[in-house]
Formats: sequence, structure tokens, C-alpha cells
Amino acid sequence: VLKKQIAVLAGDGIGPEVCREAIKVLEAIGERFGHAFTFNHQLMGACAIEASGTPLPEHTLEACLEADAILMGAIGDPKYDNDPTAKVRPEQGLLRLRKSLGLFANIRPVTAYQVLLQHSPLKNDRIEGADMLFFRELTGGIYFGEKGRNADGSAYDHCTYSREEISRIAHLAFQSAEGRRHKLTLVDKANVLETSRLWREVVKEIAPAYPSVVVEYLFVDNAAMQLILNPRQFDVILTENMFGDILSDEASVIAGSLGLLPSASVGVHTALFEPIHGSYPQAAGKGIANPIATILSAAMLLEHFALKQEAELVREAVQHALDNKILTPELNSKAPYTTEQVGSFIACYVKEGAGPGRD
Ligand code: IPM
Ligand code: MN
Repeated sequence: VLKKQIAVLAGDGIGPEVCREAIKVLEAIGERFGHAFTFNHQLMGACAIEASGTPLPEHTLEACLEADAILMGAIGDPKYDNDPTAKVRPEQGLLRLRKSLGLFANIRPVTAYQVLLQHSPLKNDRIEGADMLFFRELTGGIYFGEKGRNADGSAYDHCTYSREEISRIAHLAFQSAEGRRHKLTLVDKANVLETSRLWREVVKEIAPAYPSVVVEYLFVDNAAMQLILNPRQFDVILTENMFGDILSDEASVIAGSLGLLPSASVGVHTALFEPIHGSYPQAAGKGIANPIATILSAAMLLEHFALKQEAELVREAVQHALDNKILTPELNSKAPYTTEQVGSFIACYVKEGAGPGRD
């Protein structure tokens, strides 16, 4: 029996609801394949601030370091968003966790699902067949530079990148491109930013080691336009922290819903798997949150454990839910299913290859 311990950081808003469904699916995988997954629930985000005054308690970090993988829901609360003077914020917990675990590469796949094409506001013939993989740098850049206020009342956020920070994620992106369509696009702002010029320099140095990969360079403003104009041109997109944050949200419009996009964060210590969406507090407790992004994050977690067949089965089950319109209201406004029903349908398919009907 394969034994794995998974730290669960359900977090805030819809986080706990979507995590519950992903855990259901992982348990179904465990049952079917005879793996023993155990789940260690810990607090992070606004819920942790409520409980202990800090967004990433020491205990949570320790549990993450000890675990084989981390499954996260979402963090954030409007209480803090609307208070620019707040000293303690839920996001600090996530940022500190990423940094403490050395999770420098955030991998975000974006696919245009055939059955959901009509849900995208973009023209179907433009997005059909789009399939790209973001490599977003996650522990450097403007997110982690010195920040503060000056005596004159102005504010600053510094952006710094070292060669090492760039090359380690660039190698991962190149390796991934070798196993895909052999194209890597570096997105930067090298016409203005010195850090971007360093990204180009380092990527150009590394490129010869991957002769089968074609490298393209795109300024971020142009990339934002190209993404919705002609998304099929992209295979692997490599970019720095903030550009990756912005562009991956934009790219979700291609998939039809932000609620479909998973991510994996890998690096030095325990890898973390989370949907790219936020805590969507307006939807909390209503059963309308789409659990698929978190369930697909769980599939990436399985792949990380080298459980390829298991990961494939989860993806097949998700595809089955899409094909049968077992979907939450943002993708099925006429006959919507609840978060719980979508999760159960997918877990049932994983267990026995067939889905239950509506209760
Ligand atoms: C994301 C989120 C986070 C980020 C926030 C919550 C700090 O938007 O994972 O994309 O900006 O990295
Ligand atoms: Mn984001």
C-alpha cells in the first residue's frame, strides 16, 4: 500500500467547500487503487488570523514541511481587501508559505474544453484547441522585494531577480516544452525593465541546451493581447511572478471559467496544489462554487506522486462531468448542480466508472 500524508489548507470563503470535494475524489482514488491517503487539516489565511492572530501559524508550516504534499483551497477576505491599512493580511500567509517551502515554480495549465467553448465570451474558432502551460515564477520579483512607505508619503515595491532564480524555473519550463509541442515563450517587459533584460539574457544562455525547443520572446502587453487574439500559438509560457499572476487569470477566459483552472507549485520542499481562483466570499456556503479547479489540482498532486494512471482517471472523470453537464451555475445556468453534487459525481466515476444521477 502506498501511504501518503497530505496537509490540507482549506482556507477561507469557498476554500473549505472545494477542498472537501477534492478530498472526496482523492479518497475515491485511494479506495480504487489501494492507496492510503491521510489528510492533516491546518489553518492558513483569514481563518488563521481569526484563530491565532497570524495568517501562517508555525504549526501549519511544520505540518506542511512534514507532509508529502499540500492541498490548498483559497485564502482572502473582503475585510482585509477593503482596509489598505491592515497590518496583518491573509495573503501574507500564502506568500510566506510559498517562500518558506521554496516553491519557485507555479505551473498553470489552461485548456479550451471542447464542450465548454460556447461558455467563453471569446469567439469559438479562435480558442478551439488552445492548450498552454504557464510557468510562473513564484518566490521572487516585485511580490517579494522590499516594500514600504517613504517619509514624503510615497510608497515603493522593489523588483529584483537573480540569475539563479531565473535559470532554475527556466530549466523546468524548457524540460516541460520538450515533452509538449516544443515551444517556449518568454513573456517580459525587456524594453523597459532591467529585470526583464536579465530574464532574456539567462533564457538565451539556457536555450542551446534544449535544441528541440523553439524560443520566442514577447512583451507582456503584446502577450496580453495575443492570448485572446490567437491563444493556439502558445505552448509553454515562462514568465515572472506578477506577469504570470495577471496573464493566467486572463487566460482562464479561454477555458470558460476561473473555476476550472488548477495549479501546482513546486520547488525545494513540499509541493503545493491549489486552484488559481480566490476565496470568492460572496459564494461561500451557497453550494455554487465550482470544485473542478481544486479536483484538477488534486490530479496534479497525484501526478506529482508519480500516480499517472490515477491522475488520468481523475481527468477522465472531470471530462465525464463536463460532457454530461454536471456543472455549477456559472457553466450551467439552466439546470445547475451544487458543489457537492459535482464532487460526488466525479468521485463516483473514479470509484466505479459511472456517475450517480441527481438526488
Ligand atoms: C494567485 C493569487 C495570489 C497571488 C494572492 C492570493 C496572493 O492571486 O495565486 O494567483 O497573487 O499569487
Ligand atoms: Mn492570482
